[in-house]
Amino acid sequence: YSTAKGGAAEPTFLLIGPSGSGKTSLLTLFANSAPTPTHTSQTTTAAACRLPPSARTAADQYRSENDTSAHSQPTFQLIDTPGHGKLRHQAYSLVNGEPASAPKGILFVLDAAAPSLADAAAYLHDVLLVLQKRRTQAKTSKVPPVIPVLVAANKQDVFTALPAPVVRRRLEEEIGNVRSSRSRGLLDSSMQGDEGAGIGNDDDEEASWLGEYGSKKFSFEQLAEFGVDVTVAGGNVLAEGEEGGDSGRRVQEWWDWIAESL
Ligand code: GTP
Ligand code: MG
Repeated sequence: YSTAKGGAAEPTFLLIGPSGSGKTSLLTLFANSAPTPTHTSQTTTAAACRLPPSARTAADQYRSENDTSAHSQPTFQLIDTPGHGKLRHQAYSLVNGEPASAPKGILFVLDAAAPSLADAAAYLHDVLLVLQKRRTQAKTSKVPPVIPVLVAANKQDVFTALPAPVVRRRLEEEIGNVRSSRSRGLLDSSMQGDEGAGIGNDDDEEASWLGEYGSKKFSFEQLAEFGVDVTVAGGNVLAEGEEGGDSGRRVQEWWDWIAESL
């Protein structure tokens, strides 16, 4: 997959998240393409998107509300990745790509009405750890740019959906659990006395620990010092029971986040 089209590469955003969370539905909506019957994605696909006039970029803040002169809305590429557990390497390699092809941001889409956030939290933990390592293990003195993450708490049209602040708190709890069970796993394997045991184990454990090393509770704020920026915002790509209508859709906060990150 290549983003280079002659001159400067267009900015890209990645869609990442568990299977069935609504990534392909979001791509279809944002790319303004014809809806295709959704099915589990198996490959990465890209589509061109244009910011709607309702989403204002930083440069737009200086424009008057009454300024109706035509101005071109910025465009970007949105890249959809498969959420199935066995296909997630496709997403990781895009996150971990060369700095020149680094995405402008990541939309981590989850189903806020799902019975459990455990799988979403485990996946998010791993994505955030890739981002943290990108900064802490940078090989040159040039620190790679921050790739902000938007957690899109989708399916807010479903009445059992957890609102964004609750999703945020649950994810922090679940990521804390993932973090402590992973580090226990590392300890267990280092205690089996393999050759070289005892050397570098602490380093490995510290490098694979997300956020403040050794802390009991995980919070997204701990990632700031590693240049990992996480925002949680609710919305819904589809409106339940609203055949063909888009009045029940709620995606403006996500557009605004993209506009700010462009
Ligand atoms: P994978 O390709 O397997 O990773 O899944 P995906 O994240 O691409 O999910 P997809 O877009 O295929 O959507 C899965 C199902 O969720 C589909 O049946 C969608 O119609 C439904 N869906 C997506 N967004 C919403 C939403 O906002 N509300 C409701 N109620 N359903 C949604
Ligand atoms: Mg899909």
